[in-house]
This record gives sequence, C-alpha cells and structure tokens, in this order.
Amino acid sequence: MNTLNHIAIIMDGNGRWAKSHNLPRTMGHKKGVEKVREIAIYANKLGIKCLTLYAFSTENWKRPEKEVNYLMSLPKVFFKSYLKEIMANNIKITMIGDMKDIPLEAKNIFKEAIKATSKNTGMVLNFAMNYGGQREIVRAAKKYAQDYKDGKIKNLNEKTFNNYLYTKDLPELDLMIRTSAEERISNFLLYQVAYSELIFMDTYWPNFKKEDLDKAIEIYMKRNRRFGAIDENKSN
Ligand code: FPP
Repeated sequence: MNTLNHIAIIMDGNGRWAKSHNLPRTMGHKKGVEKVREIAIYANKLGIKCLTLYAFSTENWKRPEKEVNYLMSLPKVFFKSYLKEIMANNIKITMIGDMKDIPLEAKNIFKEAIKATSKNTGMVLNFAMNYGGQREIVRAAKKYAQDYKDGKIKNLNEKTFNNYLYTKDLPELDLMIRTSAEERISNFLLYQVAYSELIFMDTYWPNFKKEDLDKAIEIYMKRNRRFGAIDENKSN
C-alpha cells in the first residue's frame, strides 16, 4: 500500500467543456471553480494532507485579455462563495507562484483567505497562481547562490535546495493528475514531480467527479513505487 499525502491536479479541459456545451470559455472556468470546491472538500474528507491545484500558469498571460481578467476574478468568486465552508471543513489555504504580477484584488483576496485559515489543521488546499516550474527553479537557484555566497549554507545538495522552493513546507508530491486526456506536465511542479506517479484522465475538469478521484487513487495504490531502487520481493 502506497502512502498518499500530496496530490496535484492540472485542471484541464474547461475551454473544451464549454465549447461542447456551446458556451463561452469563461463558463467552463466558472464550472471549474465549483469543481474545486467539491473535490477539495472530498479530498479533505479522504484524509489527503495536501492538494495543489494549477489555477493559473506563468504562460496563461498569453490568453486573450478578457479570459485572463476572468481567470483573475476567480479567487474572489471562489472565496466569496466558499470560504465559510472551507473554514467549517478545517481546510487551510496556501498559495504558490509569482505574487508580484497578480492583480491587487486577487492578491488581497488570497492574503485574507490564507490568514483566515492559517490555524486550520485539516488538508492544505494549495493554489498555484502565476506559477511556473522553471521560474520557481530559477528563483530558488538565485537565492541559493546568494545564500551560499553569504556563507549561510555549506552543503549544496538536493535536500538543502528543497528549502528554496515554494513547496518547502509541503509534503513530498505523491501523485499528479491531469484531466482532459492531454499527456503533458506543462511546467507544473517540475522539481517536485521527480518520483511522483502520473495519471492522465480523459475527463474534462468541469466533468470531474469524486468517483474520478477515487479511481485515480485506486490506480495510484496499485502502482509499484520504487524510487529508483529495485523491488526486493520481485528480483531474484
Ligand atoms: C485549463 O483549462 C484551466 C485553466 C487555465 C484554469 C483553471 C482554473 C480553475 C479551474 C479555477 C481556479 C480556481 C481558483 C479559486 C483560482 P483550459 O482553459 O486550458 O481548457 P482547454 O484546454 O479545454 O481550452
């Protein structure tokens, strides 16, 4: 039985879901927000320690301005509707990504939610906003180099480097799920995904159900995780 503490989801397919319903793309994202609520509450009930969701990537700025603005309004939509329920479920909100380019209103909404939930002890619901794996690694490398130069660190290795990542306080990533049948990592948690299990599902995010999460977990539990070692029971 594999331990499962940290799941990350690339919530893909909002646009295609909307198109298949003859709706504007933004309606796919709206439906996607409702799914965030449903799946976060369910994952917390399952006892998952951390759920990291890819809400906006450093590359998503390339989308039309109208869609970018809509995506940046989603934190307000989400926390206005669901912060009470998040509190009642003891869920703790955190955020990773490059805060500086996020519009002030969205930034403040996040700050308030992070503060309000900071003492909660249930699942960490971690939003990746204006997040890019390559940017995270470069940012960490710069700080790492500076601290080394200043004599603050002596040993340069994977363990000490880990402390410079946004995710330093989160459990190791066990499972990454991507919806919508695309099979790419798309610059998500590039360092952290090293030994995670990957599961690609053909459901669009707005159609993703609790049962789909159950299914992914069931597949994950059957995987033989070796972390580069050999399976002592199977080799002879
Ligand atoms: C990818 O689908 C999805 C996104 C870029 C946005 C995902 C965001 C949410 C589901 C809500 C986030 C919630 C909060 C509270 C911030 P796509 O648009 O690329 O779909 P497509 O590939 O079918 O076009």
